Amino acid sequence: MKLTKVSSKHLLLVLGMLSVMGVSWAAELPPREKFRRPADIPSPQSNPLTAEKIALGKTLFFDARLSRDKGMACATCHAPDKHWSDARILPLRADGIANARRTPTVLNSAWLAALMWDGRASSLENQAVLPITTAHEMNFDMAALVQRLHEIPGYQPLFQQAFGDSEITPTRVTQSLASFQRTLVSREAAFDRWVAGDDLAISEEAKQGMALFTGKANCVACHSSWRFTDDSFHDIGLKTADLGRGSKVPPEVTLMQYAFKTPSLRDLPINGPYMHDGSMHSLQQVIQHYVDGGIKRKSLSNEMKKFQLSETEVGYLVEFIKTLDGGPLAIEPPVMPE
Ligand code: HEC
Ligand code: HEC
Repeated sequence: MKLTKVSSKHLLLVLGMLSVMGVSWAAELPPREKFRRPADIPSPQSNPLTAEKIALGKTLFFDARLSRDKGMACATCHAPDKHWSDARILPLRADGIANARRTPTVLNSAWLAALMWDGRASSLENQAVLPITTAHEMNFDMAALVQRLHEIPGYQPLFQQAFGDSEITPTRVTQSLASFQRTLVSREAAFDRWVAGDDLAISEEAKQGMALFTGKANCVACHSSWRFTDDSFHDIGLKTADLGRGSKVPPEVTLMQYAFKTPSLRDLPINGPYMHDGSMHSLQQVIQHYVDGGIKRKSLSNEMKKFQLSETEVGYLVEFIKTLDGGPLAIEPPVMPE
């Protein structure tokens, strides 16, 4: 047969052309530039990234001595093997606490415009004080923490290298933690290879999903940019007693009541838990929520409208979201100073 003479290179070329043609017929895809990853990690002028600060921050992030009882580190709740979160519906020790919320990932936190589900922290530097000093979390205070770090001789050279002298201050602690977290960036996913021009990087089903995501399903109204978030707050109509952003602004700001920060859709754990309250456990369940349109109330986002989706289309959306997963970002755990 003639066909056997066709080289695999030719076959790939034909397949590639078919897929490109298939795409233009079947699915309206968004411009790739809208989702291109930035080349550099941003950092504030007051805290430029340096290798030494990153190394110190990494050590602090994994050190349980940052908590009063020495039993809890940042990494206890933001664990590398759990998508830099904790895989729990509500964090450790949060049981019985009103307004307790699921632990978000710290991946890509360098780009966060507002931090926490309700946006109550404005920078990674400011945020770091909160878990250290919150009673049901690390339950410590900054002065006592600085004192404790002073008593660990192994920390002195690390502060020396990062800041030019071995003085330990709350600001230096939070600047280092922030620097380390800025280096936690999602690995390149199949979707990024598509953005870069490789048409075969994602399946035909995923492309159909992308077309729904940016079309009929309207997900992109809030899950936009390369991180798939608009860094803004919306009430998506979940059953919740938590006002979210609403507790930080006057009640007249109607659209902020029950509003939470749009989470990124990169590197999602495939079975959740999802949402600020960890109330959902599959992407199908999440998508069904949007199809149903959420609880009707004054604060419900104008972008939340009922729509129809076939089971096959739900599958396409899920396939698309899976292409945003770059796989675990593993790191070498630090050696604890003594
Ligand atoms: C007991 C578990 C726990 C510990 C320990 C913990 N966190 Fe968190 N972290 C959370 C929870 C829960 C939230 C969300 C809280 C909210 O929005 O009200 C959060 C939010 C964050 C955010 C904001 C992410 C975003 O998308 O807005 C950052 C950054 C962060 N933590 C860093 C840290 C650092 C740094 C430490 C150590 C100093 C730390 N966390 C310790 C549970 C924890
Ligand atoms: C009106 C803005 C908006 C629209 C439209 C929207 N989302 Fe969301 N999405 C959010 C917000 C806000 C949250 C967090 C809500 C909360 O926890 O209270 C969220 C949460 C999620 C989560 C959970 C992520 C996590 O880490 O917990 C997934 C998955 C998700 N959305 C997917 C989608 C898909 C798929 C669509 C389209 C069918 C969509 N979203 C449409 C704003 C939106």
